[in-house]
Amino acid sequence: MKIVHTLAELRQALVASRHPAFVPTMGNLHEGHLDLVRQAQGLGDMTVVSIFVNRLQFAPHEDFDSYPRTLEADAQKLRAQGCDLVFAPSEREMYPQLQTFKVLPDPALADILEGHFRPGFFTGVCTVVMKLFQAVFAGKAEGTAVFGKKDYQQVMVIRRMVEQFALPLHIVSSETLRADDGLALSSRNGYLSPQERSQAVKLSQALAALGQAVQARTGRSLAALEEEACQMLAAQGWQPDYLTVRRRSDLLPPAEGELGTQPLVVLGAARLGRTRLIDNLEI
Ligand code: PAF
Repeated sequence: MKIVHTLAELRQALVASRHPAFVPTMGNLHEGHLDLVRQAQGLGDMTVVSIFVNRLQFAPHEDFDSYPRTLEADAQKLRAQGCDLVFAPSEREMYPQLQTFKVLPDPALADILEGHFRPGFFTGVCTVVMKLFQAVFAGKAEGTAVFGKKDYQQVMVIRRMVEQFALPLHIVSSETLRADDGLALSSRNGYLSPQERSQAVKLSQALAALGQAVQARTGRSLAALEEEACQMLAAQGWQPDYLTVRRRSDLLPPAEGELGTQPLVVLGAARLGRTRLIDNLEI
């Protein structure tokens, strides 16, 4: 496995590849990331992983400075997984100047849910992902990028970006890997205290309960069921940002008549202590 740190080295290392399969990450890799790498391995002629903590997608009060940087351990895991190429650029390599040109995603998709609670987040994500796509795929006949479904809205935003810029790429979304108790694997789980870790599965349980309540169609409005789900989580010591049922097609709320006829997804974000967790469940 080769590790490169500059765009020039990356392009050189990719010369022999016609169809790279790419997994962008911010490092601090866990089994969920390695599962994305395993998927990518079947989808191209070279498996490339990027490790870059992207300042642009963090708000000033968020955890950019404390986000774990664990390049050596990450490289060991990727080597053991049989990854071919790791791109771990410095901040200066990715952003040699203040990044004043940005990719502004469709606000209808990017200013809701995560984008509402983390303004500018998807602009930061799209800008870095576009730069990474340029770096990995420029001049290639084909390309595939693999993203985890845990970041459900992120995958949708990136798919729409790829469509609208007519990038010749396949975007593959991979199922969320979960711990034995059902907690979605996430780098941010590492912030949880042992006591919080034992409570953390309550978010996915609340999403499942909300999904069941919606499917049971008790006659109560969707808004009332969502509010109750938030209150139940709050009563257990969480601070929910949202627990909501949306159409899978555009992440907008379904009309009451669409319940049971449209593919839906239940999405949630909530803070447990200092840690903000997100999860989702297709229903
Ligand atoms: O999902 C992530 O880890 C990040 O948002 C991504 C896609 C690597 C962009 O920085």
